[in-house]
Amino acid sequence: MKRAFVIGHPIAHSRSPLIHGYWLERYGIAGSYEAIDVAPSELGKFFGRLKAGEFAGGNVTIPHKEAVYALVDDLDPLAEEIGAVNTLVLKGDQVEGFNTDYMGFLGNLDQNAPGWDQGLDEVIVLGAGGAARAVLVALKARDVGKIHLLNRTLDKAEALALELEGRIECAGLSEFSTRAANARLVVNTSAVGMKGTRFDDLGLKRLPKDAIVTDIVYTPLVTPLLADAQALGLKIVDGLGMLLHQAVPGFAAWFGKTPEVTPELRQRIEATL
Ligand code: ATR
Repeated sequence: MKRAFVIGHPIAHSRSPLIHGYWLERYGIAGSYEAIDVAPSELGKFFGRLKAGEFAGGNVTIPHKEAVYALVDDLDPLAEEIGAVNTLVLKGDQVEGFNTDYMGFLGNLDQNAPGWDQGLDEVIVLGAGGAARAVLVALKARDVGKIHLLNRTLDKAEALALELEGRIECAGLSEFSTRAANARLVVNTSAVGMKGTRFDDLGLKRLPKDAIVTDIVYTPLVTPLLADAQALGLKIVDGLGMLLHQAVPGFAAWFGKTPEVTPELRQRIEATL
């Protein structure tokens, strides 16, 4: 029986066992996916178990994403470009590191806003932390034109733009309204929206009428940003789809079946939020 895991510390909050458990059952695969609490001091030992063949692979979450980056034997080029690993796959006795947030972001938009990237000239990305990296690399892969990277701390946006290259222009959040006129996609990658937080008025009404607004925050499912966009009649895509889609490549690699993100799966996870 193939076994997979999600490791973190703490780990109890993770929805990943529910997602993978649903697929294992649905496809009748005799496998397991378990949440394992691994303290930072135990990570090396856990890698020993992985390399000895106990697992086919697994997911990695806070606080291990950076430590794991240095421990893997091989890095997928996209994970290297993004600079973070969230998925491990055992190949022989070697551990390869992937970043599937990239696929999660694209899969979510492709499913819920088909054609979103066609002729997309300008995008606004809010936030320049760890989560922005996968989003920026994904947008570059779809050849979007100019990316306006807006962040509370301008220095951090500039450092990230320099590192990732491409047509990325940086500014503070207060410049949203002056950059909005041609932005047909807005992506929030920052933590704003969680725990009752919200942006000061960004000026969403300056966006084109056919703009799409998406958020990677999924607790709450409809963040204040998405609610404001919806009230203006703009199309919104919530962040739960990214969580579901980022799980697809891992499942495929460990269990040999590319799973589907269905409305039923979404409902199951939504009910736990
Ligand atoms: P993650 O890895 O989850 O992206 P992070 O690296 O701490 O987390 O980044 C969080 C992002 O949310 C940053 O862009 C941060 O802005 P700063 O670079 O200025 O810190 C942004 N952020 C968090 N709280 C914010 C707030 N109250 N207002 C605006 N931006 C905020």
